[in-house]
Amino acid sequence: TNALRLGIAGLGTVGVGVVRIIRKHAHLLEARTGRRIEIVAVSARDAGKDRGVPLGDYAWETDPVALARRDDIDVFVELMGGAEGAAKDAVEAALQGGKDVVTANKAMLAHHGQDLALLAEEAGRQIRYEAAVAGGIPVIKALTEGLAGNEITRVMGVMNGTCNYILTRMEATGQGYNALFKEASDLGYLEADPNLDVGGIDAGHKLAILASIAFGTQVNFDGVELEGIQRITLEDIRQAADMGYRVKLLGVAQRSPRGLVQRMQPCLVPAHSPLGQLEGGTNMVVIEGDAIDQLVLRGPGAGEGPTASAVLGDICDLARGVKLPVFGQPAKTLEAAQPAQTGLP
Ligand code: NAP
Ligand code: HSE
Repeated sequence: TNALRLGIAGLGTVGVGVVRIIRKHAHLLEARTGRRIEIVAVSARDAGKDRGVPLGDYAWETDPVALARRDDIDVFVELMGGAEGAAKDAVEAALQGGKDVVTANKAMLAHHGQDLALLAEEAGRQIRYEAAVAGGIPVIKALTEGLAGNEITRVMGVMNGTCNYILTRMEATGQGYNALFKEASDLGYLEADPNLDVGGIDAGHKLAILASIAFGTQVNFDGVELEGIQRITLEDIRQAADMGYRVKLLGVAQRSPRGLVQRMQPCLVPAHSPLGQLEGGTNMVVIEGDAIDQLVLRGPGAGEGPTASAVLGDICDLARGVKLPVFGQPAKTLEAAQPAQTGLP
């Protein structure tokens, strides 16, 4: 058969979005890849939950590892989340069993990216993760493919939709941060543990992944200096606005003479600058390279449609036979990151 056969583990915000796009755009996807994109089997915790999409055509697996091991799938799509446990076990099982992997799981990649990349390489398989960083913005493709001719000098930006949503809604509504959690949750922005969002950890995961690709270093999440938005008050936001600034959870990664600097922290940015104008769940990633000078990517950073869009981009690449090293170069050639001890120069 000419089909690319998928097993999808995780039917929450992102998983359901992926099923919806595959059902809606079956013909478009086949025209673009030359192959039928076929969901063979799915998995989630609760088999009885109504998820708003028809699932009756697909085999159900309660255990995601069993799904990953099925002989009748080509690609294991991991959309459960969590750095450890079921997600990692199932991804490892998929790679060992000769399947390619598509995932949106930045926590897993930030903590285990190097080992998983080595495993994928040994198995001759691919791990694709466009959805893991900046939602619908194709920043992984930009760094690994389009900018491959550049020495990258800096990567920076706003990479967590929840934090940007909460900060901009605080400013617009005068509501406190706790009241805005429900809105962010209804939009499908929050991590299963929202402390990862507001603590800056999720954005730190994303920055560490981008730094690995940009600088040819092993992912080093422990080297990210982190501060979240929990201590930002309405008063801080009002005072910043009075001075013509907005508060953004901003990340920066760059090489310095003292080592690799990775920082994610709330910053004041001029209100009329491109970063200052980001509203809601929008993300922005700025990449600087010796040939490109500066590239600015802006778009929806979280939620069902944008994240599923990125997953489908990866699935289509696999259907077309595109092969890419996980972090832009073979994992065994990535240097160990040397974190800077004293911050930015
Ligand atoms: P979610 O809505 O919480 O969905 C998670 C899904 O995984 C649920 O269907 C859950 O089953 C299933 N699941 C969790 N643990 C499982 C286990 N042990 N065995 C089987 N199924 C399990 O999460 P999400 O927002 O879709 O996020 C999924 C992944 O995408 C995460 O890695 C997240 O970081 C990433 N991501 C999310 C966004 C976003 O905007 N939401 C954007 C980019 C990346 P039940 O439904 O039965 O509980
Ligand atoms: N919780 C994440 C965010 C989802 O708010 O940005 C997208 O990675």
